[in-house]
Amino acid sequence: MQISINQETPQGWSGSTLAIGLLEGDITAQLGILSGICNPQLIEKYLKEKEFSPTLGESVKLTLLEKNIQQILLIGLGKPEEFSINSLREATAIASRASIGSEGKMAFHFPCNNFDSSCVAKAMAESIRLSIFKDLRFQSDPKSHKVPQSIELLGLPESAKSILDLIDPICSGVELARELVGAPPNDLTPSSLANEALKLSEQYNLECKILNRAECEKEGMGAYLAVSQGSDLEPKFIHLTYKPNGEIKRRIAMVGKGLTFDSGGYNLKVGASQIEMMKYDMGGSAAVIGAARALGEMCPANTEIHFIVASCENMVNGSAVHPGDIVKASNGTTIEINNTDAEGRLTLADALVYACKLNPDSIVDLATLTGACVIALGEEIAGLWSNNDQLADELQKASSDCGENLWRMPLQKSYKEGLKSMLADIKNTGPRSGGSITAALFLNEFINKKVAWAHIDIAGTCWADKDRGLDPAGATGYGVRTLINWAMSQG
Ligand code: BES
Ligand code: MN
Ligand code: ZN
Repeated sequence: MQISINQETPQGWSGSTLAIGLLEGDITAQLGILSGICNPQLIEKYLKEKEFSPTLGESVKLTLLEKNIQQILLIGLGKPEEFSINSLREATAIASRASIGSEGKMAFHFPCNNFDSSCVAKAMAESIRLSIFKDLRFQSDPKSHKVPQSIELLGLPESAKSILDLIDPICSGVELARELVGAPPNDLTPSSLANEALKLSEQYNLECKILNRAECEKEGMGAYLAVSQGSDLEPKFIHLTYKPNGEIKRRIAMVGKGLTFDSGGYNLKVGASQIEMMKYDMGGSAAVIGAARALGEMCPANTEIHFIVASCENMVNGSAVHPGDIVKASNGTTIEINNTDAEGRLTLADALVYACKLNPDSIVDLATLTGACVIALGEEIAGLWSNNDQLADELQKASSDCGENLWRMPLQKSYKEGLKSMLADIKNTGPRSGGSITAALFLNEFINKKVAWAHIDIAGTCWADKDRGLDPAGATGYGVRTLINWAMSQG
């Protein structure tokens, strides 16, 4: 599918589907744009009969059977005073989804003169491409997923064209993350994730280091290896590096939780804990690797970027961790594992120590870390914790610029009390209340205090049970675009 900008007016355009955005208010005036294509008065009458009002997300499909334009989609944009780039993304996704099943040419004509035209072009193109994505890899005889061959954005200036070059790298990164998360746990294992990373490193000229179990033992990664010891599959510690040509002014690291399956271990996930969904427990690593795919192609100047994933499975065999075991992380901290289902933070502990040793200016980790974060913020907002206000602000800007929702949460120091162990330096699980905060405080124990660090809990946002905004049901690829924006703003 090709997305482009076309200076043509709706009257001069021909193709199969024309999507027109309508704001609440004077419908008659806005339908005027259709004169010359069809009869606006008749359409207005039809809309009145259907009691259509253009609130955000409402849509009507009109079949014209004309030779120049076969169908028109009228898409509600909501109140003019509330119309934003985010509502534009949403309305664009609705129109795009409605076009699934028809081939040929499609065009959008949305009234966006109040916004920067490059922002509009980027928001619309991302929304189109990401909302019509469908994962057909696991069907033996895929039903066809027909989408328009070309999509043209009408009414935007030539100057907005160049931004469209970014759409393919960005969306390919998001799509890669969605495919990694969507793959079942018998297909996507720590080894196959490591192979994906290796493939990317060859394609985009990244350095790639994969540590096996013995090498991780040498690093003293007792927390990470404890999680992996109950699985028949080898753990794989993945480290990709992007090095810019020319001077390096900043070094940053992105760390992703990479549990290709989380059974809970001996604290087995039972009842309503959705064990069958736990293939998505590598959503953080998918975001990091998706970002590596995009940034490897976009080549930000002056910024060295490390992508780090301590990947394994949390399973139950005869060698699995016992609830109550005490292990030692690579910074020397001893941890009492009072709950084997709080495994993500154990893998991240060693990954964060490793990241700190690289001496970065800042580290961001992404993880499907806690059910408590889903309870706090729901499925559309990720939680953000940081020891550094500037980094937190940068990430909130990066996320709001792409429409990924991120809400800062407190690193409440007094809650560290809940992680006190009678025997070891710390235990891995605190009380139920404030569970996403104690998880962040646990991670903080493995951060060198001089490094700016942020943690993003994506337990709610990494998966959509049904179509939601730009995300078709399934893996969302949440975090990739925020990471890209953040990395691109560092140079
Ligand atoms: N992977 C889960 C967190 C999770 C839960 C992600 C639901 C997505 C949806 C994590 O490893 C986990 O099991 N966390 C426990 C921590 C608890 C034992 C302190 C949780 O949140 O219940
Ligand atoms: Mn768990
Ligand atoms: Zn987990």
